[in-house]
Amino acid sequence: MTDVRSTETAVSITVDGKQVMAKPGELLIDACERSGTYIPRFCHHPRMKPVGMCRMCLVEIDTGRGPALQPSCMIECTNEMVVDTQSEKTQKAQEGVLEFLLVNHPLDCPICDKGGECPLQDQTMAFGAGESRFIEDKRTYRKPIPVNENVFLDRERCVLCDRCTRFADQVAGDALIHFIDRGNKTQVNTYPDQPFSSYFSGNTVQICPVGALTAAPFRFKARPWDLTEVESTSTFDSLGNRISVQESRDKVLRFTGVDSDSVNWGWLTDKERFIFESYSSDKRLSEPLVIDESASGKKNQFVVTSWDEAYEKCVTAFQVTTPERIAVIGGSRLTNEAQYVWSKIAKGIIGTDNVDAQLDDGFSPEVLLSLNPSTIDETCKPGGVILLLGADPKEELGSLYLRVRHAVVNDHCKLIELTPTKTGLSKLATYSVRIPPGKTFEAVKGLSGKSCELDEETLKAIKDAGKIINNSKSVSVLLGRTSLAESSSILEDGAIALQEYLPEATFLPLLRRGNINGAIDMGLSPGLLPGRCGLEEGSELLQGRWPTLPSRRGFHTREILESAINGQIDVLVILGADPLMDFPDCQLVQEAFERIGTVIAVDIFATDSVRQADIILPAATTTEIDGTFTNLEGRISPIRRSVTPPGTARPDWMIALDLVQYFDPELGPFTFKELCEEISLVSGLHKDLDLTKVEQIDKEGVVLNRDLRKVEVTSVKIPKQKTNSFRLIATRSMYDKGVLASHSSALKELAPGSQIKANPEDMQKIGVSSESLVRLIGSKGEIKTRLILDPDTTSGTIHVLWNQEGPEIRKLIDSSLPVNDLKIEKT
Ligand code: SF4
Ligand code: FES
Repeated sequence: MTDVRSTETAVSITVDGKQVMAKPGELLIDACERSGTYIPRFCHHPRMKPVGMCRMCLVEIDTGRGPALQPSCMIECTNEMVVDTQSEKTQKAQEGVLEFLLVNHPLDCPICDKGGECPLQDQTMAFGAGESRFIEDKRTYRKPIPVNENVFLDRERCVLCDRCTRFADQVAGDALIHFIDRGNKTQVNTYPDQPFSSYFSGNTVQICPVGALTAAPFRFKARPWDLTEVESTSTFDSLGNRISVQESRDKVLRFTGVDSDSVNWGWLTDKERFIFESYSSDKRLSEPLVIDESASGKKNQFVVTSWDEAYEKCVTAFQVTTPERIAVIGGSRLTNEAQYVWSKIAKGIIGTDNVDAQLDDGFSPEVLLSLNPSTIDETCKPGGVILLLGADPKEELGSLYLRVRHAVVNDHCKLIELTPTKTGLSKLATYSVRIPPGKTFEAVKGLSGKSCELDEETLKAIKDAGKIINNSKSVSVLLGRTSLAESSSILEDGAIALQEYLPEATFLPLLRRGNINGAIDMGLSPGLLPGRCGLEEGSELLQGRWPTLPSRRGFHTREILESAINGQIDVLVILGADPLMDFPDCQLVQEAFERIGTVIAVDIFATDSVRQADIILPAATTTEIDGTFTNLEGRISPIRRSVTPPGTARPDWMIALDLVQYFDPELGPFTFKELCEEISLVSGLHKDLDLTKVEQIDKEGVVLNRDLRKVEVTSVKIPKQKTNSFRLIATRSMYDKGVLASHSSALKELAPGSQIKANPEDMQKIGVSSESLVRLIGSKGEIKTRLILDPDTTSGTIHVLWNQEGPEIRKLIDSSLPVNDLKIEKT
């Protein structure tokens, strides 16, 4: 791929008589397109290596030895090159290539999903001969064949452009779709009995230039010309990938990736691509609900109510108790604007600081605020070192995995991973070292050459990795929780030690939960106000707009739940959060819900947690609202409304503004515009930024400038692991029982189910085989299960996947402990 970062002198070429300046090394087809001359193509894709497969881009090129037809996607621009894209020879070549391609391509455009947005159709019209001389029978195949659960292949439509196969191999690293057979019989296919099992398979549908690859969720749903599209931001994870949302008759029918140079390069994970199906589920919450009081206090009996009554009940619940007995959990599903108003309600009107958008799966905002920030581009800078101290990006942040993969494979970046389990990037890492739970701080000490408590082999690998880091000019750290079964303070200690060891290093925080970075910026975190100010610092800016402020620092989610169990929380608001499903310690949540007087839920589905509520406010989802999103780089990009929400469901910002009016009819803001203006006035981070016009400032979004803070070292004490005990590692996988995926027909069957893995040598020592039924006993509970014996599982650990069908592994987690050790007993 052309390196657009090159700073060498430009070269001058002539295209159809016009002088064009090109970057050295730039492919001719790209230079022509940039200067306004479109050369037809099928196989060329700017994000993949050129292959010269289709010959559609032949143009006459003269480099001093006379003009000759050459594929412009394979030729780099050189000084004084003369190009003719319109010559008679060029046109004849284009007609010839199209005629050959159409020999075997069926003329089934009226029933083909690609019809209307098909490069073959369009280029045949623009560059073809106008009629066919071919009267023989065309090649046929059984059609369509599924290449996986969601992608179908109509082989006779394939023009053998090699885009899907190159994507699978070069971009995703899942080379499971390829060419088979020879000559006229060449076809794209998967290996026998091996589907195209890739988290990224939907991208091949998007880049296929004909209707050979189609996606089950969109097949035969609409013609492209019936779709209305809006460019927006995916709120599904914290990357904020740019997407095109396409709807017809007020129903979203497709998401496609938009090529954002800074973020996703047009790629999406299948989960992100097909998640839209859940938004039009008939299980969406569509009317406000309250507990049916006539049902003798039994929970789960709801009746529909009016918005007025629901608001009144909420405000009454807030007003009959004191601020410190009120708490808010969640908020990362919301836009920045809605987060601001909820922050204002909780901290500026009610006066409670018990507000936390993280569900104990991230790390402290104080540590986050102390990290020297990095962008994805800076992290993947050619020649740098990427240190992964966090969860597997392939499982949690798919597009980031693709960017890091590209940097390592193509841009000479070195990857060092210090993780408790292998990741999707392990094979590419220069050093991939297994760090047992609780040893992050020790690993960082080892990197810096200090003595530490790690076994000899691990320490040697870490010290060798440290040499690479010490010799590198640029180190960027992907920092996040490596396991949900260990306390965040372990990571926080490691992060602080890492900053001391590498003061120049930059960090990309792997907080994965939707708009979690926006939530922290807007103050949905204990001790913070909008603009990432402390409770005291921000008071001046908020004066006159926020009637009050919390009198003391509040609790984070685990402390809120523990306080609830101690009878200290009367009202809990859950803002698009499902702690019963998502919080590591499910028993703590269950007990807390039993003790809380009033639970108010604002959500789009009746999740397990929402069903515990007394008042339910139905919210609009990401395709039904306008607003902005802040990604893990601090990049703000717009979310644009495409369809209307079900029933009377409302955008979160509107619900929050309505509630403000119920507290005080004189208190603004009153409109969305005023809301955006207030944010830019009170938040130093968003100062002078018009949130309604982000895309007009820069189509790649706007990266916020954040001041760094100093943070105190806390130092957590890790208990020694007892002989014959096993340290628990809990990680997320791409597919799980999450509420959105469960409401998408394309995704709900893809979760792998419970996978409880142990090291075979460890198990041999205690006489456990894969057949044995064992009891895994934690400090709070136990489960019965069989174990998968996997040599990749780190010795002394048990590795479980989070939120899957099967034994409830959260019974094994006590979130008050720094690490969770298990005993294994045969039943
Ligand atoms: Fe190209 Fe599509 Fe054929 Fe793949 S299936 S080689 S993308 S035409
Ligand atoms: Fe150049 Fe296919 S686009 S050969």
